[in-house]
Amino acid sequence: MASFAILPFLILPLQLDLSMAIVTPSSSLTTNGNTWLSPSGDFAFGFRQLGNSNLFLLAIWFDIIPARTIVWHSNGNNPLPRGSKVELTSSNLVLTNPKGLIIWQANPATPVISAAMLDTGNFVLKGNDSSTYIWETFKNPTDTILPTQTLDLGSKLFSRLTETNYSKGRFELNFSNGSLELNPIAWPSEFQYDHYYSSNTYNADPYESGYRLVFNESANVYIVKLNGEIAQFPDWNRINYTGDNYYRATLGFDGVFTQYSLPKNSTTNQGWWPVQSIPLDMCTAIFNDIGSGPCGFNSYCSIQENRKPTCDCPPGYVFLDPNNRLGGCKPTFPQGCGLDDGRGDPEELYEIRQFDNVNWPLNDYERLSPYNQTQCEKSCLYDCSCAVAIFDGRQCWKKRLPLSNGRYMRTGFSKTLFKVRKEVPPSGYCNVGSDKEKPVLLGALLGSSAFLNVILLVVTFLILFRRRERKVKKAGPDSSIYFSTLRSFTYKELEEATDGFMEELGRGSFGIVYKGFMRSSSGNAIAVKKLDKLAQEREREFRTEVSAIGETHHKNLVRLLGYCDEGSHRLLIYEFMSNGTLANFLFTLPRPDWHQRVKIALGVARGLLYLHGECEFPIIHCDIKPQNILLDDSFSARISDFGLAKLLLSNQTRTRTMIRGTRGYVAPEWFKNVPVTAKVDVYSFGVLLLEIICCRRSVVMDLEEGEEERAILTDWAYDCYIGGRIYHLVDNDKVAMDDKERLKKWVEVSMWCIQEEPSKRPTMKMVLEMLEGFLDVPPLQSPFPLSSSGELIRI
Ligand SMILES: *[C@@H]1O[C@H](CO)[C@@H](O)[C@H](O)[C@H]1NC(C)=O
Ligand SMILES: *[C@@H]1O[C@H](CO)[C@@H](O)[C@H](O)[C@H]1NC(C)=O
Ligand SMILES: *[C@@H]1O[C@H](CO)[C@@H](O)[C@H](O)[C@H]1NC(C)=O
Ligand SMILES: *[C@@H]1O[C@H](CO)[C@@H](O)[C@H](O)[C@H]1NC(C)=O
Ligand SMILES: *[C@@H]1O[C@H](CO)[C@@H](O)[C@H](O)[C@H]1NC(C)=O
Ligand SMILES: *[C@@H]1O[C@H](CO)[C@@H](O)[C@H](O)[C@H]1NC(C)=O
Ligand SMILES: *[C@@H]1O[C@H](CO)[C@@H](O)[C@H](O)[C@H]1NC(C)=O
Ligand SMILES: *[C@@H]1O[C@H](CO)[C@@H](O)[C@H](O)[C@H]1NC(C)=O
Repeated sequence: MASFAILPFLILPLQLDLSMAIVTPSSSLTTNGNTWLSPSGDFAFGFRQLGNSNLFLLAIWFDIIPARTIVWHSNGNNPLPRGSKVELTSSNLVLTNPKGLIIWQANPATPVISAAMLDTGNFVLKGNDSSTYIWETFKNPTDTILPTQTLDLGSKLFSRLTETNYSKGRFELNFSNGSLELNPIAWPSEFQYDHYYSSNTYNADPYESGYRLVFNESANVYIVKLNGEIAQFPDWNRINYTGDNYYRATLGFDGVFTQYSLPKNSTTNQGWWPVQSIPLDMCTAIFNDIGSGPCGFNSYCSIQENRKPTCDCPPGYVFLDPNNRLGGCKPTFPQGCGLDDGRGDPEELYEIRQFDNVNWPLNDYERLSPYNQTQCEKSCLYDCSCAVAIFDGRQCWKKRLPLSNGRYMRTGFSKTLFKVRKEVPPSGYCNVGSDKEKPVLLGALLGSSAFLNVILLVVTFLILFRRRERKVKKAGPDSSIYFSTLRSFTYKELEEATDGFMEELGRGSFGIVYKGFMRSSSGNAIAVKKLDKLAQEREREFRTEVSAIGETHHKNLVRLLGYCDEGSHRLLIYEFMSNGTLANFLFTLPRPDWHQRVKIALGVARGLLYLHGECEFPIIHCDIKPQNILLDDSFSARISDFGLAKLLLSNQTRTRTMIRGTRGYVAPEWFKNVPVTAKVDVYSFGVLLLEIICCRRSVVMDLEEGEEERAILTDWAYDCYIGGRIYHLVDNDKVAMDDKERLKKWVEVSMWCIQEEPSKRPTMKMVLEMLEGFLDVPPLQSPFPLSSSGELIRI
């Protein structure tokens, strides 16, 4: 039985022998770019430069595809400078640095006759016995396995640290015990925490236990037991092998073991397509009471649209190492007991920031009940050990640092209350009104003593200096953040993908959008946005801004997939939204279902809240309207065009002639010489909310006689509300009328959003809470300003 599984393995080398490109002893390679190629040219063995650094990895990679993906390396922990060398001697394969010091060696058991790079991706050393290899990379894997590769009991794979750093990372695949197990490791030590995935193929009877992990020639990955039985991973499908794709399976730096495919004869700069992976949900897979969990300490894990996990910092926290999202976060303020002794009232020093649906389930040290939210917040503020509290309506769970196993939860009604220090200026920058803090500083300078002035000047200087520094860092086109999340397309690829920009999807304020298809196995549809000419000084910032947009991930935002920045061409590539714009959906008869509209409104509010507060850098949209809200397969709202305002507007956009927002949706302060804040989006959201409630446009010109009063939606809605005729707004919409409590409340919320005075408008967080019913709507004030005679002024 056992020989059944071993047989193909023994035969393989003999067959391939014929086509090997033979390397003989005393051959060598240096960092000058020479390689040893496999006969088909699919794989290369040699030195690979790491990014733009002057460091090199001895590696094997797919040489025939543009991504040149590395599948094996010898010295990830210790990349070498230019001038290093690998040499095949008659006894060994040796890697030396420029000083001749041995950094790594293969150490085969017997003398070497030859070596070869095989078409399978295996680099082998051969001795005098032609039936076996004396050493091979397939038996010494790093983080990747390839078709025809098998792992015997005792094998391990190590993840790398980040996408671009090949040092040993935070996860390990262990196939020692008959079961394939994935373990977090206590980085940077070797210690392994309890596994977060097991194939459960261990059996006390060795005959019944897994003994070999196979990635077979037709791309299926499974475990073979000694009795010949095959165990597939429960969640994996059989690959329908055609020979048209390359395959690999890699233990990612995020801890997910994923099988990828890539079409062999793709002409475009195609990326690897994840076929299947374990575990299915990395964010909840790890649950060890020691160790940081899937992300580093003080951060939290969420699953992105592409099903991959990502790690983020909570409000008031930043990444310890900006190049390593898994490295954990730290508070931007001092934290802990003994700090504030004698410094006064904690309520003066700290504030609570609410940040819902995120939990660190293992960090509770106290549970208070029954408690209301005010009590819970106070309790945390006055407790120097408390970093965050979770309030679930009745109970208050206090948690301390370091926070571990953080995760974003799609559902659940608990509130996450973060204690942050008040003195700290908000991190990140404001997209349009980036001069937001200036008036405050200036005012303080004018109004205080000379001594304080000096201190303030120094502080201001430091803040500006640090910003500059940050900008410079971010602006580098090679920043790893930039490359890790977005794909760069050539103009030609996009021309092909869109069939020469044939099918126009729409025209927005920033350019024309075309439909296209990715040339991948799945043929995914994409939307390609050709941007109008950028303002001169913005060109330089294109990549920086695009990478900032690429960092935003939320289920109510349209996902940016890539960009093209070639000559004068600036294009953005988004996922395609199959159900068109909200405008088309709302303003066609028959009226869409009320509950569907409710879901859409909540979605827009969540997306905006994320843009304003939850992502790393707050983003003001500046042009919220139904044409910019798209609907995905499940009719969920997805905000599009966010982040473009900053990119495409010059600094003078606040003058009347340059208003970028769209008539009927723009907040009054656009017309005034005041800084634009996130509240402009709140205003536009208020108008949009009314449109969603009423299924009509904010301005309708061609009304029938006697109906002119209805021309301006905001005015009409206010009149209806004041006049107790709220049902007119949803004429003939029985389902909406039956939901009268929500209907009334939502109209009130929209009235609060369109208050003339920005400071009177609620934040998106409050808006969402009011819409969801967690927060009461305060008694309504007229959204319109009063003239000196006390009459309503309407423009
Ligand atoms: C092959 O090499 C081994 C180890 O050096 C040696 O013991 C053996 O005799 C050699 N066999 C042949 C057929 O040369
Ligand atoms: C990779 O990360 C480690 C640990 O942070 C660091 O010491 C090393 O310099 C990094 N390597 C490269 C090539 O950036
Ligand atoms: C890998 O598994 C073997 C056998 O279970 C164990 O001895 C070794 O410590 C391993 N590492 C683990 C489980 O993390
Ligand atoms: C192997 O795994 C099983 C169950 O996963 C466990 O009971 C057993 O102790 C392990 N054996 C070793 C040697 O680690
Ligand atoms: C690979 O594995 C699959 C699934 O077990 C099997 O159907 C297929 O025949 C195998 N292919 C080869 C070439 O062994
Ligand atoms: C292979 O084809 C079958 C039947 O068409 C399908 O159910 C299965 O999902 C496919 N496998 C994969 C991995 O796509
Ligand atoms: C590869 O190219 C051939 C001929 O050009 C074509 O028939 C085939 O469909 C292509 N395969 C893939 C996966 O694109
Ligand atoms: C919370 O409870 C405290 C003490 O019982 C009470 O004074 C306060 O009014 C309550 N707050 C709310 C919002 O219910």
